[in-house]
Amino acid sequence: MRAICWQGKKDIRCEAVPDPKIEDPKDAIIRVTSTCICGSDLHLMNGFVPTMMLGDVLGHEPMGEVVEVGAEARAKGLNVGDRVVVPFQMVCGECEQCRKGNFSVCQRTNRNADLARAFYGDTTAGLFGYSHITGGYAGGQAEYMRIPWAATTVVKVPQGGPDEKYLFLSDILPTGWQAAAQAGIEPGDTVAVWGCGPVAQFAIMAALKLGAKRVIAIDDVPERLEMARRQGADILDRSKSNVLMTLKEMTGGHGPERCIDAVGIEAHGPTKVLELIDRVETALKLETERPIALREAIMACKAAGTVSVPGVYGGISNTIPMGAAMNKGLTIKTGQTDVKKYADDLLRRIEEGEIDPTFVITHTVPLGRAPEMYRTFRDKRDGCVKVVLKP
Ligand SMILES: NC(=O)c1ccc[n+]([C@@H]2O[C@H](COP(=O)([O-])OP(=O)(O)OC[C@H]3O[C@@H](n4cnc5c(N)ncnc54)[C@H](O)[C@@H]3O)[C@@H](O)[C@H]2O)c1
Ligand SMILES: [Zn+2]
Ligand SMILES: [Zn+2]
Repeated sequence: MRAICWQGKKDIRCEAVPDPKIEDPKDAIIRVTSTCICGSDLHLMNGFVPTMMLGDVLGHEPMGEVVEVGAEARAKGLNVGDRVVVPFQMVCGECEQCRKGNFSVCQRTNRNADLARAFYGDTTAGLFGYSHITGGYAGGQAEYMRIPWAATTVVKVPQGGPDEKYLFLSDILPTGWQAAAQAGIEPGDTVAVWGCGPVAQFAIMAALKLGAKRVIAIDDVPERLEMARRQGADILDRSKSNVLMTLKEMTGGHGPERCIDAVGIEAHGPTKVLELIDRVETALKLETERPIALREAIMACKAAGTVSVPGVYGGISNTIPMGAAMNKGLTIKTGQTDVKKYADDLLRRIEEGEIDPTFVITHTVPLGRAPEMYRTFRDKRDGCVKVVLKP
């Protein structure tokens, strides 16, 4: 089959790889009908995530049709022909963390849990197409995909209607939702969102639905800012004004009650010189990320407020203003998204027509064009916000 493979930093290729097979009775195989490129994939492309290996199959936002089922998965109700969205993480459904709904840190699905413990002190769930520290599982930018722990992992969706209606249940829709939900928005709150990428767009949507009085969206990419404005956010173009000063001015001098970092590890700014410091420090391995949006979010946040961090971080960040966080009494909430915690509610909202997640899609192309689309998406060229690939 054809799949999109990581062949080193900035080297993504469409290659022929062996078809996946059932390896365990809990497995299923799906024929992928749609799959996406995520901002998280850019961190892999750009070499920010450790433990990638040459030839790793990328992708963690797929959906498709079940074409083969192992005996245990079938006994738990998964059948050939089912139409499923595949969340980016595998869940066992039975461990202590799964029982508490902390699916992104399922204790059983990461087959390289020891490596994760060595890096992070405890394990994450197994993730698809996201390095060996999260299990080294083949991803879903491919014609077919093996789903370990299939019956407890997938989200079944109705047979009718376009893939695009359901596809983002795999990651970015619940991720935007969790970003807003964990911010603890109260009526009257102002929510500032760093970034206007796909994750941020859904965080903006969720913040408004969860009762924010006002959302301020921060980026410097005009069409992304415009998309946020169309959703009802006030926009702050970080290339035209000082973010911290402007946020204070917009909020009576105190700052937003809830601040969401939907940028993560590869943020730009706040000025060319300050960005250069983080670029030099990452090049020298003195830190592994550029936590520019996170620093701003902590500094901007109103006392007793919340900083919610859906943005991905991988290792060590320098110069995090802990003094501001501590003395202002901030709550910091972060994490990979517990996709299944939100999937049923979001699926219902989609079915009832309350949410139409398709507005973020700007490009739909055949799978083979993925390498070129990774670059277009990374460089924010051609108005690119979200790419859907068709195997
Ligand atoms: N927690 C999770 O489970 C989870 C899931 C999916 C994605 N993510 C992460 O969410 C983040 C966003 O993903 P995406 O797909 O929207 O990515 P994206 O690359 O499309 O969007 C990032 C946006 O941030 C903007 N930006 C850069 N520096 C900025 C700054 N200093 N201030 C404000 N905006 C800035 C960019 O211009 C861009 O529009 C990534 O880090 C991704 O890895 C996390
Ligand atoms: Zn993703
Ligand atoms: Zn589990």
